Formats: sequence, structure tokens, C-alpha cells
Amino acid sequence: MIIAVDGPTASGKGTIAKALAEHFGLPHLDTGLLYRAVGRQVFLNGGNPDDSRDALAAVSFPDELLDDPHLRDEETGGLASRVSVHPSVREALFERQRAFATQPGGAVLDGRDIGTVIAPEAEAKLFVTASVEARARRRFLEMRERGAGVTLLEIQDDLRRRDDRDRSRSVAPLVPAGDAFVIDTSHLDRDEAITAAIEAVNTAT
Ligand code: C5P
Repeated sequence: MIIAVDGPTASGKGTIAKALAEHFGLPHLDTGLLYRAVGRQVFLNGGNPDDSRDALAAVSFPDELLDDPHLRDEETGGLASRVSVHPSVREALFERQRAFATQPGGAVLDGRDIGTVIAPEAEAKLFVTASVEARARRRFLEMRERGAGVTLLEIQDDLRRRDDRDRSRSVAPLVPAGDAFVIDTSHLDRDEAITAAIEAVNTAT
């Protein structure tokens, strides 16, 4: 069984994907991490994330980079969103994601284009979303806990910028698959969102 979980930044899709993987006993891949690693590698190379050659060269990042705590930084998220616009980068990361999705026994993948591009045949497709305000508030509390000095407004602006870029790119834009089950987590707490997701998967399969 393949479970595809797509949605914008800070919608709760990562938490939901992890919980589904645990509940159904499946391996989980956070595909955003791959794009974050490419973004981080461009930075380490001193390259330009908007230049497709620089971005493509960074796809051969070392595996250890996936454990770098800097991958979780807002700056890296911004770089990831910029490198992910290049079709050549998406193509270069396709096989790795596809192999994970089609491993025997199944898998849970979360990202932006799992249900539309990586695994359109997925038995269960969830599109997890929430208002910009709700997502910014969550991200703000998370970052304050980590001691980062950013304001709620800065986070909201950054989320809007990233949403626009992810939705408007020509290749694999962030859109729900036609057959995706949409979960709006704006007014749900963690447990409610997970329960809704498990129910949706059980209904779909
Ligand atoms: O989900 P996360 O915030 O870690 O993703 C970082 C960036 O990587 C996103 O803003 C998006 O542009 C890109 N991404 C993507 N396709 C995916 C996963 C992430 O384009 N499957």
C-alpha cells in the first residue's frame, strides 16, 4: 500500500505522515528533506539556487547531509523552494522517491507532488492544508521554542512567498490530486488531525 501525503509547508503533513507510517507499520520518506539537502548543498558550494546548473550539480549531495540540523532552518526551506522549481532537479530526484514508493510492502511519502507525479497510483492520497494564519502560528511557536528571533509577520510573509512559488511553478505545482482526500487542519489539534487521516486511509483502502 502506498500512502501519499501532500500539502503546503507547516500544514501538519509531516506529523500526519509519520503517524500514518507508525500506525500502518510502513516506512516513511519526507521528500522535502531531499529538496532541502539540494538547497543546502548549493549554499555550501557557493552556488546560486536560481541557476539550474548550480542546482543540478547539488543533487549529488553526500548522504550524511540528510542528517544536518541546518536542513530544518527557514533559510534552507527557502533555498529548497527555489531549487525545486528546476525541472532537471525534480527529474534527478524522481528515481530515488519512486524506488522508495514502490518497495515491496508499501510506504508513506510526504511532499508536494507524491499523489500527482511520484506515485499517482497510490491507494490513499491525502492533501493536508491549513490557513496561512494557522500555519504561521504553528511555525512561530516551534521556532520560538528553538530560540529563533523571528516575528509572526515575517513567518507569514515567508509562507505566502513559498506557497506562491510552489503553486505557480510550471512543473509539478502544489495542487491536490483529483482523487485526494483533503484534510484542513486549521482547527484540528494533532490527535484530531491524525485520527482524520487514519480514517481517510481506511476509507480509501
Ligand atoms: O516540505 P518542506 O517544507 O520540507 O519542503 C521544502 C521545499 O521543497 C518546499 O517549499 C517545496 O518547494 C519543495 N518540495 C517540492 N516537492 C516535494 C517536497 C518538497 O517541491 N515533493
